[in-house]
Amino acid sequence: MKKKVLVVHYSQSGQLSDVLRHFVAPLADSDCIELRQVFLRPKIDYPFPWPFLRFFDTFPEAVYLDPPELEPLDLDGNDRFDLIILGYQVWFLSPSLPTAAFLQSPLAHSLLRDTPVITVIACRDMWLLAQEQTKKLLAACGAYLVGNVALVDEAGSIGSFLATPIWMMTGKKGPRLGGLIPRAGVKQEQILDCKRFGERIESMLRENRTIDVTLLRNLNAVKINTKLIATERAARRSFLLWGGLLRALGPQGAWIRRPVVAFYFVFLVVLLVTVLPVSALLKTLTGPFMRKRIAVQTAYFSEPSGN
Ligand SMILES: Cc1cc2nc3c(=O)[nH]c(=O)nc-3n(C[C@H](O)[C@H](O)[C@H](O)COP(=O)(O)O)c2cc1C
Repeated sequence: MKKKVLVVHYSQSGQLSDVLRHFVAPLADSDCIELRQVFLRPKIDYPFPWPFLRFFDTFPEAVYLDPPELEPLDLDGNDRFDLIILGYQVWFLSPSLPTAAFLQSPLAHSLLRDTPVITVIACRDMWLLAQEQTKKLLAACGAYLVGNVALVDEAGSIGSFLATPIWMMTGKKGPRLGGLIPRAGVKQEQILDCKRFGERIESMLRENRTIDVTLLRNLNAVKINTKLIATERAARRSFLLWGGLLRALGPQGAWIRRPVVAFYFVFLVVLLVTVLPVSALLKTLTGPFMRKRIAVQTAYFSEPSGN
């Protein structure tokens, strides 16, 4: 009997769709696998490119995982799959809202129950806490996470800081200003190289081997930048605080939220240009004394697909 694999994702620019297309190509070509793919569609879709204020006005709902309504999916809760591949992008250190909505839906709760799941992330470069949220949502569905693949923008932490938001607000990846602002998005070679994950999965399923947390080991599925952990934690605390205030003021798009969002944006920029360099310097200076702690953090966030 053929093995059944389901792929679920949402994408605005098509980047994540591209990643998944290469990822599942060996599964799509396999004669022993039945592949189903579904695309998440919010009833009121998010704009792309994003208007400036609309972009930032999304963070309160994103950090609180407030689910938008999704169009019904062509799936039955009683369908069973041997493996589910969940592709998602990160929005404000959380799984994107369409993904959060899917994971909180009754359909996901029945589909994912007792089923191995692989998460595939394509984002700027801050995904560690989003994956922590996703793990919780998957556990609430009764799913078990057997693998995680994380692809990040080629511009690096500093380069992508401007490049990715500009891409989101213009729809164009760049580069700009003669390369001063690098190209946004994941490197094309890395996207093509995702085929290796599909090949591993295809051979495991073909040979009827047990699908467990060793599935994607030793394939360079994730790379942990421990320097970002403290930054992500501090930013998330700030998002939760300000996001709580903004949600109390009104729903997404309410005019009363606009001046507060604009003020928060300025506050964030000031915070980033003052606190970030100091904290990066402190981390570099204290790095040699923190080796053990860094190794523990790397091992934790690499699970289940670390090398
Ligand atoms: C509203 C919004 C917030 C984002 N926040 C983050 C973030 O916190 N961390 C990150 O690494 N990338 C972030 N990104 C970038 C996305 O994860 C992703 O790279 C980009 O949206 C392209 O995905 P797509 O396949 O949907 O086009 C954000 C994008 C959007 C639209």
